[in-house]
Amino acid sequence: MPPSPVIISRHPLIADKLLRLRDKETPPAEFRRLIRQLAQLLFVEATSDLETKPTSVRTPLAECPGIRLASRIGFVPILRAGMGMAEAMLELVPDSSVWHIGVARNHETLQPEVYYERFSKLPPNLDIAFVLDPMLATGGSAIEAVARVKEWGVKKIRFIGLIAANEGIKALQKAHPKVPVYLGAIDSHLSEKGYIIPGLGDAGDREFGSI
Ligand code: PRP
Ligand code: URA
Repeated sequence: MPPSPVIISRHPLIADKLLRLRDKETPPAEFRRLIRQLAQLLFVEATSDLETKPTSVRTPLAECPGIRLASRIGFVPILRAGMGMAEAMLELVPDSSVWHIGVARNHETLQPEVYYERFSKLPPNLDIAFVLDPMLATGGSAIEAVARVKEWGVKKIRFIGLIAANEGIKALQKAHPKVPVYLGAIDSHLSEKGYIIPGLGDAGDREFGSI
């Protein structure tokens, strides 16, 4: 089976905001703001083909035909760093639902450990789920999260991240070949400790100031 597509944004707004996010001088409040803005911009790119239905409204002057979103959307933020992304996306599609999953990478083995999973299935009328995490390093956390979302019964899944290493992309594609991957940037490589280089450091710690 050919691997799922990987879509890297070429938008200058995304490139500009990513550079600000990476800057080690960027404080947590600004870091969170940038995560929100980047998440929204990438979400727009990742939803250009969502299903719609024709409808119309009355303006003060005339009837005006248009479309409304017809897809029922679920967000699956990977705790902790994916939380800011989900909140930002909810502002765009407030009728969507959020299904948290807690995955922490073991600092010694780099293996993902699921520590929070409240759900065993999602509503059958959910059309699409977006798994959210700013960082795709070894890919272990995303692979584990997508596997759970599949078990929860969702057929159409997309991953949205901000920065990835090739290692993580390849691993995610191999484990879940039908899951398209939307990203802001692909970086050079992983460090021995599994950090994306140049990356931005630990996203969760920078987002919540827990350094
Ligand atoms: C970070 C990041 C991803 C994961 C990526 O989370 O937010 O979830 O690492 O690494 P991987 O691709 O090698 O699995 P972390 O485990 O540090 O948890 P945190 O968000 O609570 O800081
Ligand atoms: N998780 C992060 O937050 N940053 C990395 O560089 C790798 C994993």
